[in-house]
Amino acid sequence: MSREHHRDRIAAVRRQLAQDGPPWTREDADDFTKVTVPEEDCDAIRDLLIGEGVTRVIEVGLAYGRSALAIGEALVSVSAEEPVHVIIDPFQATAWANVGWNLLTSAGLDTIARLILQPSSLALPRLLAEGFTADAAFVDGSHRYHEVFVDLYFLRKIVRPGGLIIMDDYRWPSVQTAARYYETNLGCQVVEGALAGGGTVNPATGHPRMRVLRLPDHPFEPAFDEFKPFWFSQ
Ligand SMILES: C[S@@+](CC[C@H](N)C(=O)[O-])C[C@H]1O[C@@H](n2cnc3c(N)ncnc32)[C@H](O)[C@@H]1O
Repeated sequence: MSREHHRDRIAAVRRQLAQDGPPWTREDADDFTKVTVPEEDCDAIRDLLIGEGVTRVIEVGLAYGRSALAIGEALVSVSAEEPVHVIIDPFQATAWANVGWNLLTSAGLDTIARLILQPSSLALPRLLAEGFTADAAFVDGSHRYHEVFVDLYFLRKIVRPGGLIIMDDYRWPSVQTAARYYETNLGCQVVEGALAGGGTVNPATGHPRMRVLRLPDHPFEPAFDEFKPFWFSQ
């Protein structure tokens, strides 16, 4: 399949998902809308990743696969020789009836994606130990403070220096608080306007749904006695 044909196929699966919804949902009739990343944000993720020229992306949280399809579209568009998309979700087969993975397969993205059916807190250290590296990460997993914190702990070592970590659902205090430690203490820079031209905002706060962090070009470990308080208060 040519790259153009593959991109058309992915776009067609994304279009159908946006128009008709997924072939399977959990019991709540609105579940797809509540859980999945909106199409506008998915387009913004795709365009950002294409602009970064990524060839290796790691994603936490598959669910309906909407963000994964957009990331796959970016990887195919960049046209690396061997694009890699690692996706972690312990519940894809059990709670999600493989709906996200089946959509990726129908888009021909199972050829570049690897699904790990484990909690990210176990999968990420294993990937790190294997020597796995990525250009960017997309985090939309458990949303519990301690699990987001642990995700960022390992992603900071897996994503290359200068690479991106995109956080979904930054409106949640649990997510904000975890991210802010890495912003205040570990040199992760917020990339303001990274999703300009796309991406939804939280109507209550006017802030973008997603937060984009760029890892420092020169990673460092701070001295423990230089710790900067990072607690986010609303
Ligand atoms: C908000 S949904 C992801 C939505 C997805 N990005 C989309 O666009 O359809 C969160 C996902 O994180 C998964 N998840 C929950 N706990 C997790 C963990 N500890 N590690 C990895 N994934 C987890 C859930 O099974 C669920 O599929």
